[in-house]
Amino acid sequence: MTAYASAFKEARPGVALIGAGAMGHALALRLADRGYPVLAVISRTRSKAEALAQAVGAPVASDRLMDVPPNARLVLACVGDGAIPDVAEALTGVRHPWKDTVVAHCSGALPAAALDPLVQEGAAALSFHPLQTVAAESSAQTLDGTYVGLEGDAQAVAAGIELAVGLGLRYLVLSAEAKPRYHLAATMTSNFLVTLMAMVQEILVSLDIDRADGFAMLEPLLRGTLDNLAHASPEDALTGPVVRGDLSTLRQHGLALRQHLPQLVPAYAALSVETVRLAVRSGRLDPDQAEAVLGLMQKLVTTPLPRSKSERPSPDPGTPRPAQPLGT
Ligand SMILES: NC(=O)c1ccc[n+]([C@@H]2O[C@H](COP(=O)([O-])OP(=O)(O)OC[C@H]3O[C@@H](n4cnc5c(N)ncnc54)[C@H](OP(=O)(O)O)[C@@H]3O)[C@@H](O)[C@H]2O)c1
Repeated sequence: MTAYASAFKEARPGVALIGAGAMGHALALRLADRGYPVLAVISRTRSKAEALAQAVGAPVASDRLMDVPPNARLVLACVGDGAIPDVAEALTGVRHPWKDTVVAHCSGALPAAALDPLVQEGAAALSFHPLQTVAAESSAQTLDGTYVGLEGDAQAVAAGIELAVGLGLRYLVLSAEAKPRYHLAATMTSNFLVTLMAMVQEILVSLDIDRADGFAMLEPLLRGTLDNLAHASPEDALTGPVVRGDLSTLRQHGLALRQHLPQLVPAYAALSVETVRLAVRSGRLDPDQAEAVLGLMQKLVTTPLPRSKSERPSPDPGTPRPAQPLGT
């Protein structure tokens, strides 16, 4: 067993954390909470390093990579993805017992090989990706229940498992080849839900319902949907007009969008097409109904939209603008 692996087995290794941003903050608090000595916090902005170092009782706060303490057995780079290769390259200039050190980054998209310059120095390179969305304000509990995606060579992954377990987190081990698809799944889950809710908010704002009221109104629906998904497959959890083959309701929705929020038509139609695929898989939408829904969506995106407001002659106030019909 190498020195770093035994250090991970025998005790909580001392950690140098680089990057006092959103993820760095959450991980530093978690490390300290779980008894890991955070020996240093290093960040581009010294004041941020100092604030986080103080929060976790780290004796070193710095804006210089050369201040990585020699007794740090884990160097955790929580810098943005674009900065990881540069930080790895710059760390090769730091005198450090790299052969006894695990260097990890937190990117979901990049492989452990992004740290290759340090592997050349003898370090073990680990991709340690918390599968969670973390905002600037975090606590030691922020990562509760989170899985960590681990990737690297066998020794690095073994150290990553020790770390994940030590932090009270769950983990899954990935190959470098699998990482982009794994990260795609994570990104779609978090980002597309946010985008979807932003679209919904646009619709509610058009009804003079503000963000807070809108969220309060929709939260039980969101939670109910998540609960259904926790217990059933997407095929079984799906409800609504597409899986019912309810063309009349879908036509009304399409008209409302075209009339009030035409900018949302392409995304709505694309998601409806995907919902048709799901509904057919569920066995609850027959092929004829599926064809009809797909035809309606095709018409929705191909029928020219009303011209933009600035191009339109101003309608009489109070006179509703007739929407172009969406036929069967
Ligand atoms: N936030 C999330 O939800 C999340 C989730 C999963 C994974 N991740 C991963 O976590 C990593 C960090 O993301 P983040 O969201 O925490 O980003 P972030 O909030 O922008 O923080 C990045 C931090 O890195 C510091 N930094 C940048 N270049 C540096 C350098 N050359 N030397 C030292 N420090 C440097 C920045 O410094 P200053 O602020 O001090 O200027 C900043 O504090 C990324 O790999 C990201 O993919 C993030």
